[in-house]
Amino acid sequence: MLIEKFPWWQRGIIYQIYPRSFQDSNGDGIGDLPGITARLDYLVSLGIDAIWISPIYPSPMRDFGYDVSDYCAIHPLFGTLADFDRLLHAAHARGLRVLLDLVPNHTSDEHPWFIESRSSRDNPKRDWYIWRDPAPDGGPPNNWLSHFGGSAWEFDAHTGQYYLHTFVKEQPDLNYRHPEVLPAILDVMRFWLARGVDGFRVDVITHLLKDAQLRDEPLDPNWDGIEPYYRLRHIYSRNVDGIHAIVRQMRATLDEYPDRVMVGETYLPNEELAKYYGEHLDECHLPFNFQLIRLPWDAQIVRRAVDAYAAALPPGAWGNWVLGNHDRHRVATRIGQAQARVANMLLLTLRGTPTTYQGEEIGMEDVPIPPEFVQDPPALNQPEIAPIVGRDPERTPMQWDASPNAGFTRAGVTPWLPIAPDYATRNVARQAQDPTSMLSLYRALTRLRRAEPALCIGDYRSVDVGAADIFAYERTAEGAARFLIALNFGARAHTLDLSRVARTARIEMATDMQRRGHVDLQHLEVAPNEGLVMRVD
Ligand code: NOJ
Ligand code: CA
Repeated sequence: MLIEKFPWWQRGIIYQIYPRSFQDSNGDGIGDLPGITARLDYLVSLGIDAIWISPIYPSPMRDFGYDVSDYCAIHPLFGTLADFDRLLHAAHARGLRVLLDLVPNHTSDEHPWFIESRSSRDNPKRDWYIWRDPAPDGGPPNNWLSHFGGSAWEFDAHTGQYYLHTFVKEQPDLNYRHPEVLPAILDVMRFWLARGVDGFRVDVITHLLKDAQLRDEPLDPNWDGIEPYYRLRHIYSRNVDGIHAIVRQMRATLDEYPDRVMVGETYLPNEELAKYYGEHLDECHLPFNFQLIRLPWDAQIVRRAVDAYAAALPPGAWGNWVLGNHDRHRVATRIGQAQARVANMLLLTLRGTPTTYQGEEIGMEDVPIPPEFVQDPPALNQPEIAPIVGRDPERTPMQWDASPNAGFTRAGVTPWLPIAPDYATRNVARQAQDPTSMLSLYRALTRLRRAEPALCIGDYRSVDVGAADIFAYERTAEGAARFLIALNFGARAHTLDLSRVARTARIEMATDMQRRGHVDLQHLEVAPNEGLVMRVD
């Protein structure tokens, strides 16, 4: 099996950069493009293949860049188009691909399209957005909710109608039922593809189309009473019939350029997720699979989920796995430092393209944000549930070293979000010196994955072990070494009988970065919180 036959995005590892928090180069306390360029050698040293950069376009920053006011330029905070071209060139020179974040569901209310749209009811761009008359009582046209709290409708006194915004009110939703909207977005894609970007992560791709009649959404009987948005079942505002035709056209545009990739933000159950590959694999290459973020951290639950996902993938489709992103509490906070090592081992030994969120490779944790420093709109709009829905804690600056401001920005500057209190001990420089650190583990895992066809593109099969704490699986590829992975999700030691796989094996890597040597698979000792990657004899 020739590994080179697999496209780069199947062989590779994706690393998400949240640019505001990666590296500041000019001392304004906000990360920028020259900062990323300066850290490219670090990214290469991680053994990753592609970076996805969260939005860097001009934006009033009401949703920290996900409110775009010009799709074809760079926000001066982040640099210039020339800085972007330099970054792209320098990344390519090092063999790294660059994915941009495409945000097609909504624009900023300061985007020229929306400024025109709201200027009058008969402006030619009026219907590029979703406008409706008030309900008979003067209230919003239907019961839809914003993800970030409150109604999804905002009244515009100037024209006497409401417009739809799935996120903050400064993020009006585009109307994909208007024939000119999708072509305009396809042109945005071409602008960046022609510049050389290697693809896109497409923001809330599942939301692009809305019910033509804008029907009320039903209450969700299973609502847990926490996030108001989930009070409703979103059957008319997301994943609506007709969405796949739009995704197919985006993919066809991407395919006008060779070797590019389209990743979709798709929070969906397997059956619906599978459809975003396209009936003829003509939609997303990688519709994001967020199960490892959402599931309880339990070996049997995760095993069942991995097996079910593998079974649900359409023929020829390639899977993917994600531990965290800028919208979710950090994995090390969710499951603890010891299990975060196990989680990285899982991520980097499963079948399917892994995505790492910046900082996960050093076990960065959520940083508690004092109320007066909270910036994230869902937290500001819903103070009662801010600790649950607020995303500032997982967006704090990257911890590079023990110098003031963690090497993220100059000493004396106030970074846009506070630096984690543990930065002097948890940082890249320190972990790089320590052969047993999480960073050393991460690097060793990516190195092994790249070197071993079974781990990179091989088959997956889970193995029964009879211990509830353990998830074990095999990775195999024709003509290549076979691997057995055993992960202890619990804090107790276990002795396992894995002799049905083979009699003996050699430990290739352990989460403590120390354990080595041959093992008898009939009596395999697994320490608390230990993960093992074994080469089967
Ligand atoms: C998903 C993005 O990941 C999130 O950060 C953003 O707030 C929403 N989409 C709206 O664009
Ligand atoms: Ca800066």
